[in-house]
Amino acid sequence: MASLTASIHHKVLSFPSVSFSPLSRLNSCYSFASSSSICRSPAHLLHRQVHHSHFASTAAQTLAKAASPTVAVSNLAPSRPYSSATTRLSLISRHLNEHHQSSYPPINTPYTAERESLPASTDDLPYTPLQRSPSHVQKRQLSTSASNMSTQPPHPSLLIPGPIEITDEVSQSMSHYAQSHVGQPFVNTFGETLTLLRDLFQTSNPGSQPFVIAGSGTLGWDLVAANLIEPGEDVLVLHSGYFADSFAECIATYGGKPTQLKAPIGDRPQLPEIEAALKEKKYKAVTVTHVDTSTGVLSHIQPLSDLIRRVSPDTLLVVDGVCSVGGEELYFDKMSIDVALTASQKAIGCPPGLSIVMVSEKAMNVFKSRKSPPGSYYASFKNWLPIMQNYEAKKPSYFATPPTQLVNALNTALKQLLSQPIEARIAQHHKISQYVKSEITKLGLKQLPTDPANAANTMTAIYLPEGMTPPEILPKLMAKGVIFAGGLHREIATRYIRFGHMGVTAMDESRGEIDKAIEALKSGLAEVEKAKK
Ligand SMILES: Cc1ncc(COP(=O)(O)O)c(C=O)c1O
Repeated sequence: MASLTASIHHKVLSFPSVSFSPLSRLNSCYSFASSSSICRSPAHLLHRQVHHSHFASTAAQTLAKAASPTVAVSNLAPSRPYSSATTRLSLISRHLNEHHQSSYPPINTPYTAERESLPASTDDLPYTPLQRSPSHVQKRQLSTSASNMSTQPPHPSLLIPGPIEITDEVSQSMSHYAQSHVGQPFVNTFGETLTLLRDLFQTSNPGSQPFVIAGSGTLGWDLVAANLIEPGEDVLVLHSGYFADSFAECIATYGGKPTQLKAPIGDRPQLPEIEAALKEKKYKAVTVTHVDTSTGVLSHIQPLSDLIRRVSPDTLLVVDGVCSVGGEELYFDKMSIDVALTASQKAIGCPPGLSIVMVSEKAMNVFKSRKSPPGSYYASFKNWLPIMQNYEAKKPSYFATPPTQLVNALNTALKQLLSQPIEARIAQHHKISQYVKSEITKLGLKQLPTDPANAANTMTAIYLPEGMTPPEILPKLMAKGVIFAGGLHREIATRYIRFGHMGVTAMDESRGEIDKAIEALKSGLAEVEKAKK
């Protein structure tokens, strides 16, 4: 036990003001619990968090951590009075010890010094996706349904800027049979998925760190704000739409000080003003929304990166690539990016539910030299870093349960995505985007981006004709088998609609979704205008 405790201390990232030793925190929690009527037993703590007491909830977290297989809780404190709490903990411990004596594999946790793995398991069978029988496929009601949706029930084409259409293979991966999240077959899949992300983000530096965590794109903001920004530190937020406001709010939630550099609607902050801002003050990070999904405005990463490296080399470059990764040019190493965050449901072509983040070696070192502990528990790199490293090394680990089916789906989506060079994928998105934008112009419609050079390739934000509103046109499109999104930018939301053309919709022209959408828009607009006369 003593050597285990020592190794725990040795491995855990240390912050001067806080001890992360699970044992010491368990002890202090326990003495608090025994002197408090609020917190009667660890089970009580685990299941009924005391929201008004920071200490009590920290104690609950600590107990949860300490109950991991690597900490023999029953050996803990002979000096403490016997109570129902210790009884309960020793039950947990005994249960875990039994497993240790059997062939059950040791599971790494954020507090585990060892990096254990299993031999390849006999249940590591190759996965055969579930094939839907024809009876599962309802008769198509939409004559305009994409021709290739052979195993998916008929449905209108989802052409919003995320979530997007998924391939049959990705869809079938979502119906993967149940797997243990610490069993070797799933560990192998998760590990491979993390490695595939290095190719997606184009990083060959082994110090770059991928994270895949259950959550949505928003969780990426929390990961940045909780781990890389310390309370009181300044962050320059480049604003090209709604999502910068939200990112700034997230940073402020964790005590960071965001300064927004705002551009007029349809535009993005220009390099000279960014340079002036960087010279005025020391910023811990600059955040940029690669494609702001509310406006369809594209920001150019390479010139921004060059500017930051020239003017303020220590400043971290954080790219919100939720609506860009997999469809726009994003080269992590070449562009000297420190954090690229995205989500599963957009140009990657997976269902929603995963926050996907790549962090540079430099940013990980910034995290490791924090003076204060991370401002979040679930979003803490301290908790996730060893887990991600273990998974990538194909070793079972546990901090919080990953969504196994979604990880299988991401694995499939990434293999499809990477089956051709990333440059070819970007070029195809560009081609489809140019086509969409020229057809929109032919319909006499304007777009939000004020300059074609500012326009995203993954989506198009389209102003409606004067006097027409999204609730008038969107149902018409839906009736024609196409789903577009309404406006999102607060000031102009009622004046425009958004068309997402990324992932399989852009890559597989044989689906015919792009032309179907343009035809639907053309006839839908005519119907609304006719009805207004
Ligand atoms: C650019 C951008 N950032 C962040 C988000 C938030 O992602 P999520 O909705 O998956 O939480 C979105 C969502 O559309 C987005 O488009």
